[in-house]
Amino acid sequence: MTVVKLEQLQVTFGAKTAVSSASFAVNAGETFSLIGASGCGKSTLLRVLAGLQREWQGQVSLLDQSVTPGARFTGALRRNVQMVFQDPYASLHPNHTMYRTLAEPLQIHGKTQIEARVTTALQEVGLPADAVNRYPHQLSGGQRQRVAIARALLLRPKILLLDEPTSALDMSVQAEILNLLNRLKGEHGMTYLLVSHDADVIAHMSDRAAFMAGGEIRRFFDRRALLSGEHRMA
Ligand SMILES: Nc1ncnc2c1ncn2[C@@H]1O[C@H](COP(=O)(O)OP(=O)(O)OP(=O)(O)O)[C@@H](O)[C@H]1O
Ligand SMILES: [Mg+2]
Repeated sequence: MTVVKLEQLQVTFGAKTAVSSASFAVNAGETFSLIGASGCGKSTLLRVLAGLQREWQGQVSLLDQSVTPGARFTGALRRNVQMVFQDPYASLHPNHTMYRTLAEPLQIHGKTQIEARVTTALQEVGLPADAVNRYPHQLSGGQRQRVAIARALLLRPKILLLDEPTSALDMSVQAEILNLLNRLKGEHGMTYLLVSHDADVIAHMSDRAAFMAGGEIRRFFDRRALLSGEHRMA
């Protein structure tokens, strides 16, 4: 089953074309990655899929629902597509405790048993229950990214968009977070779209990858090509 489908996606910022006629489809349960040099359009593409970049042209469908340019994501679509950003420090509110950070999305979506859900969310990402009382600056970088992942998973999304989720972390913490993401993907049956600069991360995580340059997709790599390291030469 296809859960993400792009046809001829184009995003322009004034005279600048950030993404140009990108087309691909991602199957349920896959980890599909975007690779390529800085500025080639990876984050812009992910932001379209997250509903954050609303000006674009082409065709986009998410979970068999076609998305229209300009439209705000609502309802199931908003719950089902979540994004984790590179810098957890910037994506967490500095003056909110972890309890508030995790409880608010649940309240907004009218969930009950908020405390129990927050506790479970922290457990799932390997954080102690007493982390609820802490502020972002009282956590390590890895712990902050765990909270950001816990928050993204609160509403049980089907698609997780990961934009350089570990590049702000040191090597050993990076491996822990990647393993955590792989475990959660299996447990919750999610589909991942991953952006990373790190060829090892790509090879470790991805079923397939698309190599972008100058806003275009130039090449696809399947699992075999990734295992043999062909993407390292791209
Ligand atoms: N809001 C914006 N306004 C104008 N130009 C933008 C905007 N967002 C991105 N761009 C431009 O679009 C191009 C693609 O940017 P994007 O952030 O998608 O690249 P990227 O592949 O994610 O790069 P990096 O690996 O450095 O994160 C760049 O030239 C960037 O300067
Ligand atoms: Mg980027």
